[in-house]
Amino acid sequence: MATLAANDQLVRYNAVARTLHAVIAAMVIFNLVTGIAGDAIEDIWQPFPAHKATGILILLLSLGRLGWRFTWTMPDWPSTMGSLKRKIARITHVGLYALMLIVPITGWIFSSAGKYPLSIYGLFDWPKLAVAKGSALADAAHEGHEVLGFLMAGLVVLHVAAALHHHFIIKDNVLRRML
Ligand code: HEM
Ligand code: HEM
Repeated sequence: MATLAANDQLVRYNAVARTLHAVIAAMVIFNLVTGIAGDAIEDIWQPFPAHKATGILILLLSLGRLGWRFTWTMPDWPSTMGSLKRKIARITHVGLYALMLIVPITGWIFSSAGKYPLSIYGLFDWPKLAVAKGSALADAAHEGHEVLGFLMAGLVVLHVAAALHHHFIIKDNVLRRML
């Protein structure tokens, strides 16, 4: 195991960042599973009302998280990470932040053209956008939701695999500082 340098002592992300990361991660995993398996489990449970409501909450929480992200600096990466790994991590994180906004926005756009209300867990209705059924915008958003949803699933798998690799193989602090 590499010798840990002084700057590799455990410096965590701040508590709000860790909490928001955990809450949004759980919601994104829920939406990826219900989105991908939704049609297959429809006979047992219709997941799309919860998928839509959770997706809107992901959008709102991510907007807050991202705005607030510009107000603090993340802890330094450990010396176990070379410049290529840092670059890949940065690109993955920026990609995840972008998809945490774009995927729910595309869902909101094409679902606005549907006949069902956008209900937040039956508590209140979320406003629909002025999008006509069958319009080019609705179709592009639908297509985009599918393609970018699967891209997000791939990035999440890569991201989680990297976190577990750091924890169990490299044995550095990268996972612990986000828990
Ligand atoms: C980060 C949040 C979200 C993620 C990760 C996500 C992911 C996905 C994925 C992977 C699919 C399956 C794509 C396919 O096979 O066609 C899907 C389908 C769907 N999503 Fe989302 N989604 C999110 C947010 C939303 C939002 C906010 C809405 C609407 C307000 C929405 C509405 C739908 C609908 C209606 C489908 C079914 C589409 C179909 O059967 O053609 N999603 N979602
Ligand atoms: C499932 C959806 C997930 C999303 C959308 C997501 C998103 C993100 C984003 C955007 C960051 C960058 C934080 C920043 O610097 O602002 C991050 C960091 C991190 N995530 Fe996730 N994450 C997810 C799941 C997970 C899971 C399940 C794990 C653990 C197994 C994990 C472990 C980490 C770690 C360790 C970091 C810090 C990496 C570092 O310090 O370089 N993430 N995540």
